[in-house]
Amino acid sequence: MSTKAKVTRPLTSERAGLLPLAARASRIPGEGAIETLSRAQALETRGRDIIHLEIGEPDFPTPAHIVEAGIAAIRAGRTRYGPAPGSPALRTAIAAHVAATRGIPAGPEQVVITPGGKPVIFFSILALVEAGDEVIIPNPGFPAYAATVQFVGGVPVSLPLRAQNDFRVEPETLRRLVSERTKLLILNSPANPTGGVLSQAELEAIAEIALAHNLWVLSDEIYSQLYYGHTPPPSIAALPEMAGRTVLLDGFSKTYAMTGWRLGYGVFPSLLVQPVVNMIINGHTCVPLFVQEAGLAALQGPQEAVTKMRAEYRARRDLVIDHLQGIPGISVTTPAGAFYMMPKISGLGMTNARPFVNMLLEAGVAVLPGTDFGSYGEGYLRLSYAAAREKLVEGLRRMRLASERWQQTNT
Ligand SMILES: Cc1ncc(COP(=O)(O)O)c(C=O)c1O
Repeated sequence: MSTKAKVTRPLTSERAGLLPLAARASRIPGEGAIETLSRAQALETRGRDIIHLEIGEPDFPTPAHIVEAGIAAIRAGRTRYGPAPGSPALRTAIAAHVAATRGIPAGPEQVVITPGGKPVIFFSILALVEAGDEVIIPNPGFPAYAATVQFVGGVPVSLPLRAQNDFRVEPETLRRLVSERTKLLILNSPANPTGGVLSQAELEAIAEIALAHNLWVLSDEIYSQLYYGHTPPPSIAALPEMAGRTVLLDGFSKTYAMTGWRLGYGVFPSLLVQPVVNMIINGHTCVPLFVQEAGLAALQGPQEAVTKMRAEYRARRDLVIDHLQGIPGISVTTPAGAFYMMPKISGLGMTNARPFVNMLLEAGVAVLPGTDFGSYGEGYLRLSYAAAREKLVEGLRRMRLASERWQQTNT
């Protein structure tokens, strides 16, 4: 009998029902931000002008010397398969970079290059979390953490971050959340969506808990270079005995305005390197070598562009805070890093932000409800200030007018 299937009619939804999916296929949601973005884009195609404060993406071009290095690498024929864990030169440069910036003791053999930072979340959770295992995740927090934990059958446990505490991790709260089933703790500093940065003392208290309860830690430091204090944010991986249980996530997307290049990395405890490399071999084989050459130029070339972008984000942060303070009913905690903030809107007399977000979109400014990042985001908006100053000013003007209208109709 021929093994060739003869397709005689297209799949109808009834017939598709006879082809069951794996249960896990329904356990992986998309991202709330994407929904708001597509609604904003739909309005734009109808001719409306929308200010985008929902997108977490630098508006700067990738610095020219990085672009040139990528192009030169393509011209030089770096267009074939490369080693699954990444090019030796880039792995060596990254090991030196994390040692220099955060004092993390790691050799090049622990560095694995990935297409953006996100796969480090995915691969780490796949390699560490069994069905029924609990994973403590920040709430509000980056949505991929809970999504991936659910996908593998794990149980996300919310670690509340509260505005009145500058969205810091409260070690006592964390201690209470740890159970017999806790396998992994996820940290994100500087944080999306809160802009919070964990201090050395907080990290020490958290590390003590991780050590006492034998937890793995995933430290998402994708915003490591976007900080507004005098010193760079410290890393839990640099604390005594923590490197052997901590996966460090970082990358090029935010620091070097390279979101579309898809270049990130994990620094893994030795035990995890081979399973993750095997996932790469079976999944995407390698990150393009010419992209890695661009990454090498980013790390080893001049850093003025990073300094300039950081200064500009800081100026934008201050400008947004200034304008928000002029809107009655809205209050905000000044973020210490990344390019996000979470204005509190409960002063406008609402508990659910969604209708207000819809009204803002109609008024021409796209922002996200805090609940896109977890239940503890209720009563907040998430706003990205990775947009040009004139856009921010106009977006905040529209927000002020919409808030005034909201108050007139709802109070
Ligand atoms: C907290 C956090 N981690 C990881 C990522 C993923 O970054 P990348 O685009 O490099 O995959 C993002 C991107 O928005 C993020 O906000």
